[in-house]
Amino acid sequence: MVSSPNLSVEIGGLKLKNPVITASGTFGYGNELIPFYDPSLLGAIIVKGLSLRPMPGNPPPRIVETPCGLLNAIGLANIGIETFIEEKLPFLSKINTPIITNIYGHTIKDYAKMAKRIESVDRIAAIEINISCPNVEEGGMAFGTDPDIAAMVTDQVVKNTTKPVIVKLTPNVTDITIIAKAVESAGAKAISVTNTFLGMAVDVATRRPKLANITGGLSGPAIKPMALYLVHKVVANVKIPVIGLGGIMDYRDALEFLLVGARAIQVGTANLINPKTAMEIVNSLTDFCVREKISNINQIIGGLKVNGENHEKGGDKKNK
Ligand SMILES: Cc1cc2nc3c(=O)[nH]c(=O)nc-3n(C[C@H](O)[C@H](O)[C@H](O)COP(=O)(O)O)c2cc1C
Repeated sequence: MVSSPNLSVEIGGLKLKNPVITASGTFGYGNELIPFYDPSLLGAIIVKGLSLRPMPGNPPPRIVETPCGLLNAIGLANIGIETFIEEKLPFLSKINTPIITNIYGHTIKDYAKMAKRIESVDRIAAIEINISCPNVEEGGMAFGTDPDIAAMVTDQVVKNTTKPVIVKLTPNVTDITIIAKAVESAGAKAISVTNTFLGMAVDVATRRPKLANITGGLSGPAIKPMALYLVHKVVANVKIPVIGLGGIMDYRDALEFLLVGARAIQVGTANLINPKTAMEIVNSLTDFCVREKISNINQIIGGLKVNGENHEKGGDKKNK
């Protein structure tokens, strides 16, 4: 009889009490969730993407609902790394779970400077790099669509910190495995798959785009099958752990990602519908393991059966 299954997982040297993490941009800076539950119950918290200096983001409207999905063009509005460290981190430090900062820059130097600054802050456990943002030096093309540039960003962050570096990939490429392998070679300790898919929506009455930015990033249930497919592909092509996300709404969705080989999962848009989703997934995964007599969540990871064989080819097996 399994009464308290072990849900802990390890991501590039970072020990998590369970595999459930909140996705950047959907959980604010952590404090917003306090009225709903104790965030210490989560595997980790990833905060809103931070830049060197505060950013106002795009003009409104910057969020539009679509069938089964959410289109956003927030434009990475944030308070900047210094204000985050001064004003938000003292509160976050009271939460008993790893805090991961998600960072982005407009130049490779921006990323390097951010990594250096974060290195001096003990309470930050790891860095997730968002490489889906426009690279001003290369004419606005996202860092994450070119393997050489994605590797250069990763390399510069890795050189400036001893903390685990997680690279969050964009799905808006022809072959995501090329980018995944490039950032792995450059020293990434883990990969998050996936950021939002490019999309748009039009108001036929006004004949105008529904987003002021014209285009945005699609998230939520609409992207889950595509995100799952990308996780499946990346897992088979890298040795470092993969964190799966995209449309996870409940523990069954989370299990699908774990089965295709994700070592942990992130909950994004679901937080905006029900702020307790991540905590409910932790509880439901526990109940599932008890029901299925699974003593350790790692027994599920990569357990997808394809022709009778387990699916996972890659993955840092020694961490299991
Ligand atoms: C409102 C909103 C803001 C977001 N902000 C960020 C961000 O600052 N940095 C980032 O890397 N991803 C950001 N994302 C992307 C999410 O973290 C996640 O990768 C994506 O939404 C897919 O997961 P989901 O379908 O569970 O939401 C944002 C998503 C939404 C909906």
